[in-house]
Amino acid sequence: FKTLHEINLRGQRVFIRCDLNVPLDAAGRVADDTRIRASLPGIQQALQQGARVMVTSHLGRPAEGRLEARDSLRPVAERLAHLLRTPVPLVTDWLDQPFDVAPGAVVMLENCRANPGEKANSRELAHRMAALCDVYVNDAFGTAHRAEATTEALARLAGEACAGPLMASELQALGRALAAPERPMAAIVGGSKVSTKLAILNALAQRVELLIVGGGMANTFLLAAGQPVGKSLCEPGMVDAAREVMATLKARGARLFLPSDVVVADAVSETALPAIKPVAEVGGSDLILDFGPQSMRRLVDELETCKTIVWNGPLGVFEIEKFSHGTRMLATAIANSKAFSIAGGGDTVAAVNQFDVADRIDYVSTAGGAFLEFLEGKTLPAVRALEDRAN
Ligand code: 3PG
Repeated sequence: FKTLHEINLRGQRVFIRCDLNVPLDAAGRVADDTRIRASLPGIQQALQQGARVMVTSHLGRPAEGRLEARDSLRPVAERLAHLLRTPVPLVTDWLDQPFDVAPGAVVMLENCRANPGEKANSRELAHRMAALCDVYVNDAFGTAHRAEATTEALARLAGEACAGPLMASELQALGRALAAPERPMAAIVGGSKVSTKLAILNALAQRVELLIVGGGMANTFLLAAGQPVGKSLCEPGMVDAAREVMATLKARGARLFLPSDVVVADAVSETALPAIKPVAEVGGSDLILDFGPQSMRRLVDELETCKTIVWNGPLGVFEIEKFSHGTRMLATAIANSKAFSIAGGGDTVAAVNQFDVADRIDYVSTAGGAFLEFLEGKTLPAVRALEDRAN
């Protein structure tokens, strides 16, 4: 597909679809501006070329045609203005009321997902948006797994369509890790449920030399391996699926890493008393809440030999200090490793930030769901639309 720098933007009306779906705090202020910062290069590039820039995004999941105050992009526009050091007026009724943008200026178009037809990928809506711009830029990798009017139909209908720099670098980094990875390759997949990540586990089992399963999912795999898990979060109904993942790995000569010791407690709380136990000694009332130190030493050694590492999901309940050591050691091991490393997904990015390793991981994706679907090997509809335009 085309990228932004291939197009002359001077004086053009440029519509940039970003993913500015950021968390807000209780007072409605931006709680984490990572996605806004990651979107700056594309917006700045257009501004520097003297384009008339319109930026939009979805925020949350508003009902169509009814925008509640909490779904407004106003705090996002304010943060963007602060970061760009330039005013970013919010245009609310942008489909129905005419508005003007001067060359070298930028406006924010209110939450695009509130427009009727957005979620249904309406061509009629996309036609109306196409009439507002000369160039459409998709820089919203985090929303690339959604076929919505601003991510899919508009890419097909706008006069000119291209990928923004964030979209391009996400695809390049993730593509490099998946298409032709240097081997051995390891993937760490953590999180609570096998059922929500089975497709990713199956896809990765076909690619990697080492699959590390963490979090609540590890308990289901331990159960599948005949180990006791006490009262731990696990899905007995997914044991067969876990065994299939194990069989896929084995048939390829690849390995599954499971903990040999774990941190247990009787409750998921700040005040619970943790104990370290070999997995075989996990008792009937124990909750497994983290990998143990012996497992972590083994895991760190294993990761040292890898040349590509993909990380999604924590090993334990890292939000609570006493159950965070496994995830912290994992984050540090990935940061110290010479492997090409990528990390992505909401919890994972929170862990990367909490343990302050973002600068030392080769690529930290801004995406959650899109990152996971990419790992599954799916073609993302927004990316396909850009590719079709280029052909
Ligand atoms: C995300 O945060 O994963 C993206 O912004 C997509 O949001 P959605 O799941 O509401 O489509």
